[in-house]
Amino acid sequence: DMVKVRIPASSANLGPGFDCIGVALNLYTEISMGFIEEGLLIEVSGEDYKEIETTEDNLVYKAAKRVFEKTETQYEGLKIEIRNGIPIGSGLGSSAAAIIGGMLAANELAGGILTHEEILDLAASMEGHADNVAPALNGGLNVTVFDGNTTYYVKKELEEELKFIAFTPKKLLKTEIARSMLPQKIDFKDAVFNAGRSSLLTAALFSGRYDLLKIASQDMLHQKYRSKLIPEMHACFEKALEAGAYSVFLSGAGPTIMAICSEDKVDTVVEGVGSVYTSMEIDYRVYKLHCE
Ligand code: HSE
Repeated sequence: DMVKVRIPASSANLGPGFDCIGVALNLYTEISMGFIEEGLLIEVSGEDYKEIETTEDNLVYKAAKRVFEKTETQYEGLKIEIRNGIPIGSGLGSSAAAIIGGMLAANELAGGILTHEEILDLAASMEGHADNVAPALNGGLNVTVFDGNTTYYVKKELEEELKFIAFTPKKLLKTEIARSMLPQKIDFKDAVFNAGRSSLLTAALFSGRYDLLKIASQDMLHQKYRSKLIPEMHACFEKALEAGAYSVFLSGAGPTIMAICSEDKVDTVVEGVGSVYTSMEIDYRVYKLHCE
């Protein structure tokens, strides 16, 4: 028998919360998994399916394997079906969804041995941080710290009326490459800048003070370095704020740009930011999302 799980997309960092803040969004990948007589059979369909490995390098499989090893589950063969709904290499948490989905499905096949928290820590150790895996598993906004072993977090559900508009160019950007743009050292004043913004961001989202998001989403740790790979970034940021968005930032490692706005600003934000992509002749998709 196949078990089936559905995992949401997620947006990490939200500007200053590098590697620690993330939010689950209502775009999903579905994964079915079951034991078969022998071998590994992976079937992929949906968004960017050509980019997804169907060998032992498949991330859903690698994550499942971790669970089977940890739970000492013996099996002859494995079948995995992936219906992907999250664009790959876009900064929308496709890897985290694959890892969480692989782990949840495998754990169910193993008899549900691992707890929710054990799955989270196993997933965070595969990624090195929990900013995508925690919301992918828990839903909601998650403020996290992964200390190398344990994930400490607080979750908050955000109202559906708060819109997350994702602008996703049709070019892949591997997190690895986006991380290679980051400096080895940063200025003390940049660290202080981010500590303040990141704290205010958490407080603003937990208390519904959306008027503070514009300042609270500013970042000096990663976005300016990554903008070298994402030349449209600054113009998109400007247009989004002009159009009345509460805030705008790189989603995860990019290249997706995410604007947060109220329902009545969705159309103007889509139009304003869209005009940047059009004028720069960049193919893109728009996803109008909310917190899952
Ligand atoms: N926090 C990560 C980064 C996002 O910005 O590189 C991908 O997990």
